[in-house]
Amino acid sequence: MISKDMATRMSNQLNMELYSAYFYLALSSRAETGSLKGISDWFMAKHFEEQAHAMKIYHYLKDQDVDIQLQAITAPPAEEMSVLQMLEATLEHEREVTKAINDLVDHALTEKDHATNIFLQWFVTEQIEEEATVGEILGRLRLFGDKPEGLLMIDNELGVMAATLAQAGAAGPSIG
Ligand SMILES: [Fe+2]
Ligand SMILES: [Fe+2]
Repeated sequence: MISKDMATRMSNQLNMELYSAYFYLALSSRAETGSLKGISDWFMAKHFEEQAHAMKIYHYLKDQDVDIQLQAITAPPAEEMSVLQMLEATLEHEREVTKAINDLVDHALTEKDHATNIFLQWFVTEQIEEEATVGEILGRLRLFGDKPEGLLMIDNELGVMAATLAQAGAAGPSIG
């Protein structure tokens, strides 16, 4: 059993992961509307990954016998975005998630909550990988700005990455 305070903080993180899933679903939709199928598939794969993150936290809380109070999920931003802006927003969002995870680890350590601390280590590692992947894509995208040649290249690359994720079973049933 974890403390009530820790449970509330972890429930907030569950909400943040669900928001992440919702945010990437919105970006996937926008990319598909812009005929960028590869980018759309990649954001869809991220959507499913974030759902999996949320469920990991959900099951941890249930294992800890927490009576989870689910909260409303904020609507993602509705304004038009270029692909560059989408990737910039993604990196910014992942950095916020990293900060939230680090704050949770800090709190778990303060409470000497070893179980939650160990559970959170997977998320600490995951965030390093997520920021690195998005940073790399963004770096190459910035070389081209939003020029069509660059967009088509990134669209192809992300399409391949999304297909690999789908094959690995990480991207949910509706990809591939
Ligand atoms: Fe996540
Ligand atoms: Fe993420």
